[in-house]
Amino acid sequence: MPIMFDGIQIGVLAAYVVLFVPDWSKNRKVKGCDFENLGSGDVKDLLNGSWVVVAGDSQARLLVQSLLSLILNEKRMGMIMKDLFKRHNDYEIVVDDIGMKLDFFWAPYMVNLTNLMVGFKQNRTYPDVLVIGARLWHMLHVNNASDYDIALENLRSSVVSLLPFLPELSTDGPVTGSVSVRSPHLFWLGMSMLINEMLNTKEKREKRNDQIWHAYYGALHNNRILRSYGGPLLLLEI
Ligand SMILES: *[C@@H]1O[C@H](CO)[C@@H](O)[C@H](O)[C@H]1NC(C)=O
Ligand SMILES: *[C@@H]1O[C@H](CO)[C@@H](O)[C@H](O)[C@H]1NC(C)=O
Ligand SMILES: *[C@@H]1O[C@H](CO)[C@@H](O)[C@H](O)[C@H]1NC(C)=O
Ligand SMILES: *[C@@H]1O[C@H](CO)[C@@H](O)[C@H](O)[C@H]1NC(C)=O
Repeated sequence: MPIMFDGIQIGVLAAYVVLFVPDWSKNRKVKGCDFENLGSGDVKDLLNGSWVVVAGDSQARLLVQSLLSLILNEKRMGMIMKDLFKRHNDYEIVVDDIGMKLDFFWAPYMVNLTNLMVGFKQNRTYPDVLVIGARLWHMLHVNNASDYDIALENLRSSVVSLLPFLPELSTDGPVTGSVSVRSPHLFWLGMSMLINEMLNTKEKREKRNDQIWHAYYGALHNNRILRSYGGPLLLLEI
């Protein structure tokens, strides 16, 4: 399997994999691939000195947990869990030994993510690694895939506009000259499958059914927000 991502992307991907496919290392397809060899030390090296921002719904919060558990020891992890999982709250942590700052922004609706992008632009501060994703609340409270598609489009514009320059989107050929461009690593957190029987309310079971799930999946996968459509965000999905 070719490795198409650079270092930091692999690190974040590793975190994703560890979370969502707990038995991934037992999977024979993964065995032959270099992801298997990524450990805590690699992830620390890759994220050394970075500002990491994760924003979205509870799935994004779980990604933070997964990422931090690759970096922090068990004792420190135990100490932060309560704050990290404070319901509907933001969270921030600085990991001194690798000079990494991580911010989690609770952003359950698409518009919350769009507003966050506007905030970056206004503040003129851009994270090195950005992982965003929101869907569950839209599914439950709006329950309309066409509306989700429009929300994705608005978000896409806000992501693109905050980037001063995106070399990989340029159609003018290779970048020349000596200007060095610091390009952030941007990800979209893909849709995990929902186990319908496990949803805890009748409303959730009705509104997050297979048909709706597929409609939302279609909206996301046909949207120009993803790299596969020339967009800015690399999809994290197994
Ligand atoms: C992080 O990077 C700094 C500067 O490049 C280096 O001195 C330090 O040892 C690195 N820390 C880790 C944990 O890799
Ligand atoms: C997200 O957006 C909704 C709808 O506009 C708003 O009510 C809510 O306060 C926002 N939440 C956050 C965390 O910004
Ligand atoms: C922008 O700056 C304000 C004030 O420092 C801060 O509260 C806010 O979280 C920042 N927004 C982003 C998206 O970084
Ligand atoms: C779904 O959203 C679209 C776009 O916002 C809107 O035109 C349409 O009326 C909505 N459908 C329903 C059933 O609310």
